[in-house]
Amino acid sequence: MPTSNTAAPVLVLRDVSKSFGPVVALRAGSISVEAGSIHALIGENGAGKSTLVKVVAGVHRRDSGTFELGGEAVDFGSTAESKQAGVAVIYQEPTLFPDLSVTENIFMGRQPVTRGRRIDRQAMYTEAEALFARLGVRIDPRRPAEGLSIADQQIIEIAKAISLDARLLVMDEPTAALSGVEVERLFAVARSLRDEGRALVFISHRFDEVFALCDTVTVMRDGSYVDTRRVDETTSSDLVSLMVGRDVDDLFPKTPAEIGEPVLQVRGLTRAGVFHDIDLDVRAGEIVGLAGLVGAGRSEVARAVFGVDAYDSGSVTMLGKPVRARDPRSAIKAGMAFIPEDRRKQGLVIDSSVAGNVAAVIRRGIARAGLITGSMENRAAGPWAGRLEVKTSALDMNAATMSGGNQQKVVIAKWLATNPKLLIIDEPTRGIDVGTKSEVHRLLSELAGQGLAILMISSELPEVLGMADRVLVLCEGRLTAELDRADATPEAVMHAATHHLEEAR
Ligand SMILES: Nc1ncnc2c1ncn2[C@@H]1O[C@H](COP(=O)(O)OP(=O)(O)O)[C@@H](O)[C@H]1O
Ligand SMILES: [Mg+2]
Repeated sequence: MPTSNTAAPVLVLRDVSKSFGPVVALRAGSISVEAGSIHALIGENGAGKSTLVKVVAGVHRRDSGTFELGGEAVDFGSTAESKQAGVAVIYQEPTLFPDLSVTENIFMGRQPVTRGRRIDRQAMYTEAEALFARLGVRIDPRRPAEGLSIADQQIIEIAKAISLDARLLVMDEPTAALSGVEVERLFAVARSLRDEGRALVFISHRFDEVFALCDTVTVMRDGSYVDTRRVDETTSSDLVSLMVGRDVDDLFPKTPAEIGEPVLQVRGLTRAGVFHDIDLDVRAGEIVGLAGLVGAGRSEVARAVFGVDAYDSGSVTMLGKPVRARDPRSAIKAGMAFIPEDRRKQGLVIDSSVAGNVAAVIRRGIARAGLITGSMENRAAGPWAGRLEVKTSALDMNAATMSGGNQQKVVIAKWLATNPKLLIIDEPTRGIDVGTKSEVHRLLSELAGQGLAILMISSELPEVLGMADRVLVLCEGRLTAELDRADATPEAVMHAATHHLEEAR
């Protein structure tokens, strides 16, 4: 049993900071978690929640601030040290060893041995079974971890935590990849751990989950502590105000653009179980923001519009002409450009020179005329890279060594060479430091000013509110609001992003 006989909170962080080079991930993180409590930690993307958790887990060492566990000052240099001290962190996607059995994963490195000093498998299976029975779940302890659902993998991490008698369990967005039934099972497990007197920290984007599961909530913004409330004494609009409270107009001076004819028209786009009946228009010179929580289906809609993924019904037209489904080449020919969220994997060939990347799309055109030489690539790429102020000393510098901001600009440059009429960009500034962020914003604003239609997906509310002429909100695969720039307040967007379910009932 966890030792909870002292009055001291299980976890106390006060004004904890952590920087990565120039990026301040955590400025002044504070939280105080009691035994027998489920404490929600909320905040917008980038607020510093995961960094705070990683300090607690011993993944990162804090730069400054107070960190106490059970009333004692601690300073973990490794995850092994935090485990030893009774901390367990369950991530959104656990990393079990796929080749080992469920039981071996639970008892990794501390298997019980028989008198002959052989690993006592039977004892391990019996104990694993007892753990699962206590958690009220059915998982075969003998099966390999490979192929288990994410929900089951999380439960195995929790079982491991209990077998180590963790007094503090932290779950970082555990429900993002779970179905409704799996969420219920996880909540039941969390409640029983709370009732045993353990302390739990639960990070979630979903207010309904916070209100259903947690007793206390701490809000973070821009790497800092904002406030702690009792859940039964707060409302979701209080929480939204605490999460976003800042003036966004100052951060994103948007240049007004002349808005022209519709470029993209999507009607009734549906993919069963993913998104339903999506209507959306983007006009020349217009930036349309597609807002919503992670998992709302925004990227899925974008991928279907561009033809990377299939859809079941509906239509996509560009400048009045139909675009073939499931055919990105037809989309590119119609004037679409698409920059997906994971630039490293999809948008940019990392191990290739900048010039090569910028020229990749035009290359086919050059190649048709015969051989491509390095100097031809540089000739094609030079003007674009220059225009976008890609900061590289030489054009043949390797893209892998560039900053996120410069990589993003290379990807945009590559697509501009195709002369697109519409740019679909998913999370344009994810992973980009604050300084370069505003350069990417300025570039998007300029391109819109030149008549480019832009569909921008973003999880960062200030970015959506600061950049978009119009905001569409997606919640669980459905459009729940369309707001003009003037009406797009943080409250209105968050409300549409989170309240779909309650209102439908
Ligand atoms: N290892 C890292 N290197 C550089 N920047 C990071 C690193 N980890 C996090 N950040 C940055 O720190 C900020 C906070 O990130 P994070 O703690 O993941 O926020 P949250 O979990 O609230 O979404 C973000 O701007 C993120 O890009
Ligand atoms: Mg996070």
